[in-house]
Amino acid sequence: MRTIEKISDLKAIIKSQKVSGKSIGFVPTMGYLHEGHLSLVKHAADENDFVVMSIFVNPTQFGPNEDLDKYPRNLDGDMQLAEQAGVDVIFLPKVSEMYPEGYKTYISVEKITERLCGKSRPGHFRGVATVVCKLFNIVEPDKAYFGEKDAQQVVVIKQMVRDLNMGLEIVPCPIVREADGLALSSRNTYLTKGQRNSALVLSTSLFHARDMIKNGERRVNAILDYLKKNISSEEAANIDYIEIVDADTLEPLNVVEKRVLIALAVKFGTTRLIDNVIVEV
Ligand code: PAF
Repeated sequence: MRTIEKISDLKAIIKSQKVSGKSIGFVPTMGYLHEGHLSLVKHAADENDFVVMSIFVNPTQFGPNEDLDKYPRNLDGDMQLAEQAGVDVIFLPKVSEMYPEGYKTYISVEKITERLCGKSRPGHFRGVATVVCKLFNIVEPDKAYFGEKDAQQVVVIKQMVRDLNMGLEIVPCPIVREADGLALSSRNTYLTKGQRNSALVLSTSLFHARDMIKNGERRVNAILDYLKKNISSEEAANIDYIEIVDADTLEPLNVVEKRVLIALAVKFGTTRLIDNVIVEV
């Protein structure tokens, strides 16, 4: 596995791969890798000749009161895991490489970024879309892999790719969970033992909500009532949002139909966790 810090060096490697007809799979990350990231690499390695992973804690997607400075980092561990998982090149740009002095261009995907996580994290998706667009321009992947845990991020990136005529495929990959149901997240490391226990209420409630739909419940309000009651019965849980929306457009729904996304963000102490299920009827 090669480690690259400079955009020009990465572009040269990509060019030589493309000249020899190799397909490129790309896994963008912010590091502190876990099984969720590694499953993205596995998909990328299965479907492409050459796998690029980026590790970049992107400052433009963090709000002023968010965890940019204390975002967990473990570069040595990440490099080992990435290599074992089958990454060919790891791209580790400095902030000054991605956003040099005088940087002025941002990508704003409208409307769908104002809801769900976008409501409590204004500017977040502008930062995500900007860095992902830049990374796509640098890596020029055939396919890029994103975890479905960030379901809104997947919808936003797909919209950007469509709107800006980017010629790559976005491949969403299923959420990876601990054996007890907790969705893997780099932020789980912030949780105390007690908070981690309490956080299990998220997956158990989401799975129950999915069963309600499977058993015929179609009233969004009835499902939301259950979720809100059950999650707030956990004292440590502080609900940011719980919503049921169209999984493709993120439009709010009154009645469950087609493919719905049940998405939530809940704080345990200062740690904000997100989780979701997608249900097809
Ligand atoms: O999902 C993430 O880790 C980040 O939002 C991403 C896509 C790497 C952009 O910084």
